Amino acid sequence: MSDFANRLIVWQKVHGRHDLPWQNTVDPYAIWVSEIMLQQTQVAAVIGYYGKFMQRFPNIATLANATQEEVLQYWSGLGYYSRARNLHNAATTIMDKHHGEFPQDFDTIQTLSGIGRSTAAAIASFAYNQTQTILDGNVKRVLARYFVIEGWPNSPKIERQLWALAEGLLPKQAIVNYTQGLMDLGATLCTRSKPKCGICPLNSDCEAYKQNRVPELPTPKPRTVIPEKSTTMLILLQGDEVMLEKRPPTGIWGGLWSFPEIETIDNNDYESLVHSRFDIVVHASTVFPTLSHTFSHFKLIIRPQVLNVHKMNHSVAAPGKIWLHINDAIGAAIPTPVRKILLSIKSKLITSSPSK
Ligand code: ADE
Ligand code: SF4
Repeated sequence: MSDFANRLIVWQKVHGRHDLPWQNTVDPYAIWVSEIMLQQTQVAAVIGYYGKFMQRFPNIATLANATQEEVLQYWSGLGYYSRARNLHNAATTIMDKHHGEFPQDFDTIQTLSGIGRSTAAAIASFAYNQTQTILDGNVKRVLARYFVIEGWPNSPKIERQLWALAEGLLPKQAIVNYTQGLMDLGATLCTRSKPKCGICPLNSDCEAYKQNRVPELPTPKPRTVIPEKSTTMLILLQGDEVMLEKRPPTGIWGGLWSFPEIETIDNNDYESLVHSRFDIVVHASTVFPTLSHTFSHFKLIIRPQVLNVHKMNHSVAAPGKIWLHINDAIGAAIPTPVRKILLSIKSKLITSSPSK
């Protein structure tokens, strides 16, 4: 076995993490859910969501039988909602095509929506003890440093190189400790900033450490300016009720409930604009601070415009639109900025209405 693997396994057994909620199980479903949540989200943020999700959807059949709406509700706030849609979709595939049993074959696992090569490897090693290598962002960082691989790790060329190196390091036994060790090392010692090389089990062979080049690796992504987009969200209020509409099934916040959006206008006369477009009489109220929300490909500037509805034509209660009590809206499948706006409105409603 490679020194790398040997040292990592010994270190993991003593210093690694052993009590995360998705450890100490070989249930592929429980492991799968955790790996999807952990794809773009830190452990600390995942833990609470994971417990609630597993309580409500304890197995594949329960998840497959739920509506996408409810699955998104349990995902609300975690971000990257295509993960939840794919998870739900894959659960129905497993029911329909795999007799309700999570597949064991490595290539078959990768045919499921939302499961790529690295996630499939994590599931196969944790659930089935298969010797497969993971290569997520943390592992790329460890290997780029250990071998001094220059170039952005997510470029196809460098990624190919890293996969080959990762495969060459695999141990013949203790794959669970090894895989978890890779994750644990990246999360606790070989961190992006201020790595703890002094106590790292790999430091005697780590090329970046030996050459004093740790701070410059991995090579950062070539700088590209991310575009900024702007939108105005209409917060239509009637007493304690607020209007939400369901977003299209794909794209940003696909399938989630959000405020109606309108182009930002110069004269700020949303009363006239909304009246002419939706045939409702509204009075603009409180100026609301602008929010910004960064996605992977762009930054969204959100201008919330609060409008109190006075007269409404029935067409506003069209399919895909609902009026919800503000507390119910906060508990619905909504994106984070919408929740922030709702919480802020709720606190204003409470402070402005005498003892209720
Ligand atoms: N990140 C991805 N998978 C993980 C796991 N199983 N434990 C901790 N962090 C992770
Ligand atoms: Fe990472 Fe430092 Fe360990 Fe090298 S010695 S693997 S850079 S923590």
